[in-house]
Parts: sequence; C-alpha cells; structure tokens
Amino acid sequence: MKTNFDEIIDRRNTNSTSVEGFRQYIFHDPDLKLPYRDEELIRMWIADMEFATPDCIVEGIRRRLDRRIFGYTRLFSPEYYGVFSAWTEKMYGWTFPRGDLYICGGIIPALNELVGYATDPGDKVLIFTPSYTPFKQAADFHGRECVCSDLVDRAHNGYFEIDFDDFRAKAADPAVKLLIFCNPHNPTGRIWTEDELRAVGEIAMENGLLILSDEIHCDLLRSGRTHTPLAKLFPGTDRIITCMAPSKTFNTAGLHFSNIIIPNEKVRAGWHAKHNFNVNPLALAAATAAYEHGYDWLMELREYLDGNFALIRDYLAEHLPKAVFRIPEATYLGWVDIGAYLDERTEFIPLLFAQHAGVLLEGGSTMFVQNSDTYIRLNAACPRATLREGLRRICDLLNSDVR
Ligand SMILES: Cc1ncc(COP(=O)(O)O)c(C=O)c1O
Repeated sequence: MKTNFDEIIDRRNTNSTSVEGFRQYIFHDPDLKLPYRDEELIRMWIADMEFATPDCIVEGIRRRLDRRIFGYTRLFSPEYYGVFSAWTEKMYGWTFPRGDLYICGGIIPALNELVGYATDPGDKVLIFTPSYTPFKQAADFHGRECVCSDLVDRAHNGYFEIDFDDFRAKAADPAVKLLIFCNPHNPTGRIWTEDELRAVGEIAMENGLLILSDEIHCDLLRSGRTHTPLAKLFPGTDRIITCMAPSKTFNTAGLHFSNIIIPNEKVRAGWHAKHNFNVNPLALAAATAAYEHGYDWLMELREYLDGNFALIRDYLAEHLPKAVFRIPEATYLGWVDIGAYLDERTEFIPLLFAQHAGVLLEGGSTMFVQNSDTYIRLNAACPRATLREGLRRICDLLNSDVR
C-alpha cells in the first residue's frame, strides 16, 4: 500500500468538529466535564475520517491556489461534469445529463431545501429507521410529518432488511409524498440488492412518491462490492433525485461540495428560484481532482477498512460474544447491538461511554430516530492502533460493573 493509513494525525486547533465539537453536537452541553483530557479521548463518532485527504486532492487545491484569485465561481466549464460523470460511469455503470447536475454546499443543506420544493403543507415524508437523524430533521424543519418504517433484523445477526409489507402500507397513505432513502444505508451498512432497490422504487412510484436517494456512502464499499444508483434501475424517470459527494469518500466534508442530480422539473423550478449557485473554487478543484485521480487511493482505503472491520469482528467475538455485529457491506460505520450488556437504567449510551471509557461514539434512538435503543455506531475510519484501543475500552467497560 502506498498510503500510510496507520499514521496518527493531530487534528487539534483546526476547529475540527470531531475534536472540538463533540460536547455541543453529541451532548448539547458545551461545559460538559469528563474524567479524561480531550486528547485522551478515542473519537469514533462523527462520520469523517482520521486519515489524510489523498495527496492528489491536496495537489488539486494547490494548483488552484496558485491562480491566486478566489472570486465568485460557478460551474461554467464542462470539465467537472466530464470528470464526475466519467466516475459514475466507471464506478456504477451509470450517467446522467449535464443539465441535471447541481452543486450544493452539502447533502444535508440540499435535503433541507429539497423537502420544501418536493412537498406541500400537509404532506408527509417517509424514512426507514434507524435513520441518519437529519432526514427526520429535514421533514420537521418544513413542518412535514415524518413517517418511519422500521428495518428488521429477522435472524438478529446484524443483517437489516426492509419490511416491505409495512413500507407498502405506509407508502399507500395519500398524504405521504416523499421518500428519503439512504443507499447504501447509514447506520446499518446495507448495500440494498437490485431486487430490493427495484421494489423500493416501484412501490414508491406506484404511490406517486418522489424519492430523494441519498447515496453519499456509495464509494465506501467493502472490497469487491459495487454500488447501484437507484436511478440506474429506473431510466427515464424524473421521480428520483440522486445525491452523491466526494466528501465522505475522500474526507473533504469541511469543503462543502456535493452533487445533486435533479431530473424533476417541479423540484428544479424551486431550486432555480431560491438556490444560490455559487461554488467554492477550492472545493471545486478538490472534487475535480478527487474524481479524476482518487481511484487508486480509494482502493487502498477500502482494503484498510476491510482490515479494520475484520478486527472489530474478531475483537467483539472474543471479548463481547453477546454483541450482535456483522461487517457492514458499505460505509465505515459499524452498527453493534450491545443490548445484552446494557443496564436498563442507561439513559444516554454516548454519555456512558464518554464518562466511563473515554470513547466518543453515537448510539441509541435519540441519535438515530427510532429502532436503535440498544445500538452503538462505531466509526472505523481511524488508524488500527486507535481502533484497537477504542475496542479495548468499549469491551472493558461493558464487561465491568459500571454500566
Ligand atoms: C446518509 C448521510 N447523508 C448526508 C450526510 C452529510 O452530508 P453533507 O456533509 O454533505 O451535508 C451524512 C454524514 O454522515 C450521511 O451519513
């Protein structure tokens, strides 16, 4: 491997949300005191990586810096579309017309906008749960009721599936107008099969729903896996809005740049009326470099993450045998049911681990909408030594009397 993913990089004093934002973000308490110094904490929470952004991206930004003027910038030239659509063709066997591509400062800001353009007052929004919380917040923000369809882990072995009876019934509610779909799925790590994707699309469209398909995790797959964009299975439809980004894949979340592919005229009209089309020139340079030159680095990242997940699987099997964990098919997030070890009085799982293990992680239903009371989510995108120490602390705590 050319890249040294074992390198431990100091992120202090960079205004990093991971390092400096956890009190506010996880605990809503900027004054929270913990019995650990901040530098002693193992951070396995927010979904960015402890790995350096690949050199090819840093070089791309540097080349743009050398042009020295950073005035108003928009996607005028076809270069970025060419590079990004070549990536989607190579990676997923799918492309889209240039005119459907919009750039936004993030997928969450885009969802917050799109829910407004895609629904009217009184409409409801459907999501699968457990869910990335901002999906529900996007609905709440517009005063749209959020309807949840719980995923099921039938054999209780960490393999989550859609409950199609429940989904079909909820999609048939005439007030439900929009599905916010996560493909692949955060936090369960599922890559939906083509049959599942087809069924989701068909049920949604039979009932007249629009679909926002958030595919931000689509490049973070276990080695050998492939991603299928939902829209690929429904060529010609204007009912699917696809969201992708270089930010998760290449660890550039702070650059705020995401691809929103909008074939739908009504939604586009809303976007055109209110959206600010400017883009950050450094973020554009980074995204262009990422899709043009980032492939080899990504393949190495996948291999390293495969190793990290094998470590999680083996460590938990040995030290926490009653935990339910399956290596996720996608994402760098492990989803672990620790219900067998939890005291019923535990109110907020992240606080338990922060206070008694010095590990920052997300977990429980307040952080994933519902259907996740006894789950923790482990961010495995860190050097192996960090991961090993995090696992040791987590397991030691759950095997002690403290919990
Ligand atoms: C499913 C999903 N969508 C969106 C985001 C964040 O998107 P952005 O940083 O582009 O707003 C995340 C980050 O964890 C995510 O998991």
